[in-house]
Amino acid sequence: MLNRLKELEDEAREKIEGVSSLDELKTLKVRYLGKKGELTALLRSLGSAPPEERPVIGKKANELRELLERAIESKEQTLRDLQKKDKWEKDRIDVTLPGRPVELGQKHPLTMINDEIKDIFLGLGFQIAYGPEIETDYYNFEALNMPEDHPARDMQDSYYITPQLLLRTHTSPVQIRAMEKQAPKLPVRIIAPGKVYRRDDDATHSPMFHQCEGLVVDTDITFADLKGTLLLFAREMFGPEQKIRLRPSYFPFTEPSAEVDISCIMCGGLGCRVCSSTGWLEILGSGMVHPNVLEVSGYDPRSVTGFAFGMGVERIAMLKYGIGDLRHFFSNDLRFLKQFN
Ligand code: DAH
Repeated sequence: MLNRLKELEDEAREKIEGVSSLDELKTLKVRYLGKKGELTALLRSLGSAPPEERPVIGKKANELRELLERAIESKEQTLRDLQKKDKWEKDRIDVTLPGRPVELGQKHPLTMINDEIKDIFLGLGFQIAYGPEIETDYYNFEALNMPEDHPARDMQDSYYITPQLLLRTHTSPVQIRAMEKQAPKLPVRIIAPGKVYRRDDDATHSPMFHQCEGLVVDTDITFADLKGTLLLFAREMFGPEQKIRLRPSYFPFTEPSAEVDISCIMCGGLGCRVCSSTGWLEILGSGMVHPNVLEVSGYDPRSVTGFAFGMGVERIAMLKYGIGDLRHFFSNDLRFLKQFN
């Protein structure tokens, strides 16, 4: 029996030493020390040993139990330490790695120009008005002196939703909406920035683009007020040396009407590729508000006058920043957008 004890000891020690997981160790513990374990079974059979050997065997068996308990305990500790170390290795953060930079956004160039336009006109006492992008035929055309069969409608190829509802082709309908809202109070002095839509798509036209409308109505507003306001705008936007030129034009909602040019910002007016050797660049349409437009909006054209203008925001941004293709604004290319930091 003493031999059997020795065998058991050697075998158990070897097994415990060779174990590589906590689960296996638990199985071994049950196998040797459990209620039905081998050492327990051996102790139970103590009765069959010669009586004089019993105390020695009993003592040895108890020593072996203690020894195995300690061996298992220490192995358990070793395995737990290893497990912890593994986990730590896996989750470890390398604090010497360079950090990932947080990318900061910035204003879109069109937003920057829009903000500048707003600042300039707010400084002149204008207020900002907005209108819907889905507009009725009445506000987009009819009230602007463009009845159904008017040829000027052809210049603005439109997106119709129903025969009476369309995506607005310009910001001019906000003129009517703003006047209707405040008539007959004077003065009306608003700008109306926003998106407009036309069936156009090339390097200088996009189906969606931005305009900023301007409208002033009061007693004694003259063409000189229009010219002075736009000259001041051009100088604020493009620099103090900026000149403007007004050319006779035609819009159904203004009379007289004028196209406004600025002296070419590339060549200063000498003539270059950008201005097609003319020295001038067109930036907006304008004119004195047509009496019919005042009338339908609730103002008496015999006692008030007004001027209006409408500019293309993309066009102004392209001129100011020297951008050759309007589609850059809408392609979301960071290489382009990051240049406006
Ligand atoms: N709405 C015109 C267009 O989109 C631009 C325009 C011209 C607006 C003359 C005006 C104006 O207010 O007076 O082509």
